[in-house]
Amino acid sequence: MSQPRIFSGIQPSGIPTLGNYLGAIRNWVTLQDSHECIWCVVDLHAITVWQEPAALARQTREMAAVLLACGLDPVKHVLFAQSHVRAHAQLAWIFNCVARLGWLNRMTQFKDKAGKDREAASAGLYVYPNLMAADILAYHATRVPVGDDQRQHLELANDIAQKFNHDYGVAFFPPIEPLILGPAARVMSLRDGTRKMSKSDPSDQSRINLNDDADTIALKIRRAKTDPEPLPGSEAGLANRPEARNLVGIYAALAGVAPGAVLAEHEGMGFGAFKPKLAEVLVSVLGPIARETERLLADPGQIDAALRTGAGRAAAIADPIVAEAERLVGFLPAG
Ligand code: AMP
Ligand code: TRP
Repeated sequence: MSQPRIFSGIQPSGIPTLGNYLGAIRNWVTLQDSHECIWCVVDLHAITVWQEPAALARQTREMAAVLLACGLDPVKHVLFAQSHVRAHAQLAWIFNCVARLGWLNRMTQFKDKAGKDREAASAGLYVYPNLMAADILAYHATRVPVGDDQRQHLELANDIAQKFNHDYGVAFFPPIEPLILGPAARVMSLRDGTRKMSKSDPSDQSRINLNDDADTIALKIRRAKTDPEPLPGSEAGLANRPEARNLVGIYAALAGVAPGAVLAEHEGMGFGAFKPKLAEVLVSVLGPIARETERLLADPGQIDAALRTGAGRAAAIADPIVAEAERLVGFLPAG
């Protein structure tokens, strides 16, 4: 029996963070055992906000290297750069004409990213969710592992699929199921426990990058915001302590145990003692990834070649699906 097909994407907007790792990449590695997986570095999405061209190219390659270093398998599965497969942009245009303005107006990520000056945001940022729907549906993928911040976009993708099917009187696009996995579905900033850890936060102290060395990790954890209270014995004691909750959550996710178990073991310990333990766990998990990433980046030609191979295999799946969508819409056959 064939395995369910997964699609997921990650933006090449900087070195991935611990949030990307715990919220996404680590789960992707595990899912490879039970699914047919298509992993995409979404450079088309990245340019919805300004990217220096040289930086975009470098970061796309770096992201591919990190994903490979984390254990994504480019042979059994597919890893590629979004801009290499034309089907994404082609289907996204059709979806721009399916999605309603009212739907897009409800997207909280657009409101967050556009900020106060909405008039200055790119049109691409506004239709970002339509491209994301195209990414997934161009492969008829039915499962999409993401962090919980992407849930709303997947609901929109389902709305688009349903409206397309309804408007054209077909059952062509399948429903998509979000896979929101892991104990640390949301890792928060080290400087502010109410904001998510992000590659795009101006403060590097707010995040752990997957290529940070041991000293940098220890320093960032030492400086992480906390409160003066010792660790409580159970999760109820973390209420209204977002920074404490975040550090405990990170420790738990890395150690592969529940936050309650971390608290049971460390009850009464102050952060002065807990932080070095957390740094040690972080270094033991992230150290090998950083070293492998560096090794891969020493030969950029090989990474580019792997991405091109992946793009060829991705296109072989997506092109016939998008051609059929175009036929359903009423476009004359192109070739
Ligand atoms: P992005 O960095 O926005 O391209 O996100 C790539 C993937 O990482 C998506 O699945 C996100 O939901 C996930 N992700 C990003 N930041 C975090 C975070 N702080 N905590 C958990 N998951 C995250
Ligand atoms: N929007 C996602 C994010 O910022 C990245 C993404 C683009 C994606 N296309 C996707 C995720 C398709 C899952 C499926 O995290």
